[in-house]
Amino acid sequence: MTNVFSLYSSLKDRIARREARIATVGLGYVGLPLALTISEAGFPTTGLDLNGARVAAINAGEKVISYFPEGRIRKAVAGGRFAATGDFAVLAEADLILICVPTPLSPAREPDLSYVIRAVEAIVEWLRPGQLVVLESTVWPGATATVVKPILERGGLRAGEDFFLAFSPEREDPGNEKFSTQSIPKVVGADDTRSRELIDQFYSHIVTKTVPVSSLATAEAVKLVENSFRTVNIALVNEMKVAMEAMGVDVWEVVKAASTKPFGYMPFYPGPGIGGDCIPVSPVYLSWRAKDVGSALPIVDLARANNDGAPDMIAGRVAVELSKHGGVAVKGARVLILGVAYKKNVEDTRESPALAILKRLEAMGAECDYHDPYFPVMPVTRDHPALAGRQSVALTGDTVAGYDAVLVATDHTDVDYALVARSARLVLDTRNVFAAFETTDRPARLVKI
Ligand SMILES: NC(=O)c1ccc[n+]([C@@H]2O[C@H](COP(=O)([O-])OP(=O)(O)OC[C@H]3O[C@@H](n4cnc5c(N)ncnc54)[C@H](O)[C@@H]3O)[C@@H](O)[C@H]2O)c1
Repeated sequence: MTNVFSLYSSLKDRIARREARIATVGLGYVGLPLALTISEAGFPTTGLDLNGARVAAINAGEKVISYFPEGRIRKAVAGGRFAATGDFAVLAEADLILICVPTPLSPAREPDLSYVIRAVEAIVEWLRPGQLVVLESTVWPGATATVVKPILERGGLRAGEDFFLAFSPEREDPGNEKFSTQSIPKVVGADDTRSRELIDQFYSHIVTKTVPVSSLATAEAVKLVENSFRTVNIALVNEMKVAMEAMGVDVWEVVKAASTKPFGYMPFYPGPGIGGDCIPVSPVYLSWRAKDVGSALPIVDLARANNDGAPDMIAGRVAVELSKHGGVAVKGARVLILGVAYKKNVEDTRESPALAILKRLEAMGAECDYHDPYFPVMPVTRDHPALAGRQSVALTGDTVAGYDAVLVATDHTDVDYALVARSARLVLDTRNVFAAFETTDRPARLVKI
């Protein structure tokens, strides 16, 4: 009969020899870079995804994620150490199963663990003694132990005895050229020593530094605290922006100068609101869990409310500036929105404040178009499905001059801002993109909002 020690030793040896077979469940912005990084470290890796078109595109070596280096996926697939599939039967062969599926908000804006539950229900069909299951998706503290573990134990196997269970949060920053999956320290946590040692040992082969913590819940909390810190600071700097403007001070200049302080300050920049699947979502998970255990996070909740209200505030500001510069009423005004992705240089519109602004301006009677090099055609989005199919306007001097205002919502690098500066009647800039321009080359009418 196999005992836990021999299961542990056997997996440990397989990891040490880089023979452990890895399966990643979910090949999105997090799962795909992770799977590729693991296969590049020498582990045989299979990526699972329910989206057949994505699986086919990956196996065909297509780039799939725009900021990936050319040929990265093709090389991984051709090298024979990485393949994508939709067939969960591969889990029977896997030694480690890493779960990287979405954890969005429900329509009631509460944690939605349905993707995680569905993935774990598929995994339990194939679970066998000696496997290590790792949840990587962002969840509230306690979710792995109270939601994931009971499902995995349905077949009679016990976590920490028959199979191993860990949590390791993703810290992927899409489009960030300074940090890769491999160079970002990886937090690893488990409720039992063997699971913790195995996940720590595994990730020591993959990333430059691991950070072991004492429990699943601690590792889960690390991620939510990091993102809540960002949420609060983004709300703070946007609040500063409004107050500074009333004082006749440019907040961008203030942040730039404050950043020279070598301790005790970290720059956050103003903007039109927050987006993506992380920063707007994590604080909701943390706040929800805090209430669940009879506690509260009023500062985080206030920051969330400020951030949620930012797109409306920007839309209101557009109306005011249209009227101020040329007496144009927002009703019937033509507005071009530059950038609809939630942040620069990514092809991702999830929770994008730009889209919320667009919708708000249209509700106020404006006629809006957009330009975004990443979205020639607007995709179907969870938040704004009705916008699907709209087309990005080509940037020419004539088209730009035809709008009452151009609103810079997302500061993609690959946009001809010089052309915008030359041609636009009024530029409303939420990202300070024209700061780098000589004063003489800036738009004639430029307002930072
Ligand atoms: N995107 C980021 O910047 C980022 C950063 C850190 C953490 N996270 C977290 O990582 C997790 C994954 O996010 P993402 O951005 O990679 O999501 P994503 O939407 O880009 O990708 C998720 C993938 O999982 C697939 N999928 C869904 N259910 C599945 C199932 N049952 N079985 C197999 N595949 C399934 C989807 O088809 C999709 O391809 C989330 O918890 C998110 O909060 C995201």
